[in-house]
Amino acid sequence: MKYDFDKPVDRKNTCCVKYDALEAVYGRADLLPMWVADMDFETPDFIIDALRERLEHPVLGYACEHPDYWPSVVDWQKRRNGWEIDPSHLAFVPGIVKGIGMVVNVFTQPGDKIIIQPPVYHPFRLVPQNNGREIVWNPLKLTEHGYEMDLEQLESIIEGCRLLILSNPHNPAGVAWPVETLRSLAEICHRHGVLVVSDEIHSDMYLFGKKHVPFATVSDIAREISITFAAPSKTFNIAGVITSYCVVPDDRLRERFFSWIHANEMDAKGIFPPVATSAAYRKGDSWLEQMLKYVEQNVLYVEDFCREHISGIVPMRPDASFLVWLDCRGLGLDHDALNSLFVDKAGLALNDGAMFGPGGEGFMRMNVGTRRAVLEEAMERLAAAVASI
Ligand SMILES: Cc1ncc(COP(=O)(O)O)c(C=O)c1O
Repeated sequence: MKYDFDKPVDRKNTCCVKYDALEAVYGRADLLPMWVADMDFETPDFIIDALRERLEHPVLGYACEHPDYWPSVVDWQKRRNGWEIDPSHLAFVPGIVKGIGMVVNVFTQPGDKIIIQPPVYHPFRLVPQNNGREIVWNPLKLTEHGYEMDLEQLESIIEGCRLLILSNPHNPAGVAWPVETLRSLAEICHRHGVLVVSDEIHSDMYLFGKKHVPFATVSDIAREISITFAAPSKTFNIAGVITSYCVVPDDRLRERFFSWIHANEMDAKGIFPPVATSAAYRKGDSWLEQMLKYVEQNVLYVEDFCREHISGIVPMRPDASFLVWLDCRGLGLDHDALNSLFVDKAGLALNDGAMFGPGGEGFMRMNVGTRRAVLEEAMERLAAAVASI
């Protein structure tokens, strides 16, 4: 089946953050939304059909274990990433950010130090800070080859830290970490008794021939010291269904984490997550392949457009996912002027790079998980705004 990613979908007034929270966040409802990381494409029909089929039954009472939930996850991870997961190492979590909050609370104490590598997804900072933990920054290095993890710097700041939160692949810049980097990271963290949370929510969406490397598979050490989070939520545009899970291969970590999860019934799934997950992972390969091809073309479109029309903005090509990290430093604008250019002059809602922490200043994150026609309009508006300054 051929899917149509050019089909317009009106998402307004569906209580979706991306459209219906524009006014609250940007003070204007008329912006083109290219911020929150979900896509404007229709959730694929095989997922909607599976949910609809369940809704045909007139009772939505408490749910017990769905027979294909864990088998579909295990098969998907094996097929896509060559990762053999024992089903007993899996637990449902009600969202990955909440999962990170659970790890922070179970494995660290108030005042403990937690490492993150900015610029990075802002809840990596907010969740520890809002739980009274101290953030230790290990900023990424921006080299002529793109972003690299600064492992030397990590050695110099890691003493006394308890946890490192890894974005694999890295949001906002869509970086695929080389296997050697992940292996060295595991070795350093292991030597210093630091637990690694690997957030792999974007891992199904590698582009341009790149491949995902699950952190837990890079070495025995990585397996021993890690808790991995993943989900079909970004991949299949079902973030509102809450479909995340964690993988904890190490016995001691798992015993500690899962006993807390069970004690608090955090793994009670509800009816819909397993239905959507099983449909996505059993039937989603072809849709995903087509969606990623479409997104690749969108990325190339933004690159070409900037090269031809907006020389002050250089898009960094993502290795994965539908977010493009725009290097706007060439425009020579300070933080407020850059935001004003996008919002007030261009009428666009992007994520301000500074929210992702040190190193994000002068960048903007653009969500290209949308129709080409919308992207074309956005780029035209941006070019006109830049020309006006
Ligand atoms: C790296 C990363 N982790 C987690 C999330 C959110 O996950 P959840 O909605 O499951 O909390 C996002 C959403 O943008 C993300 O980019």
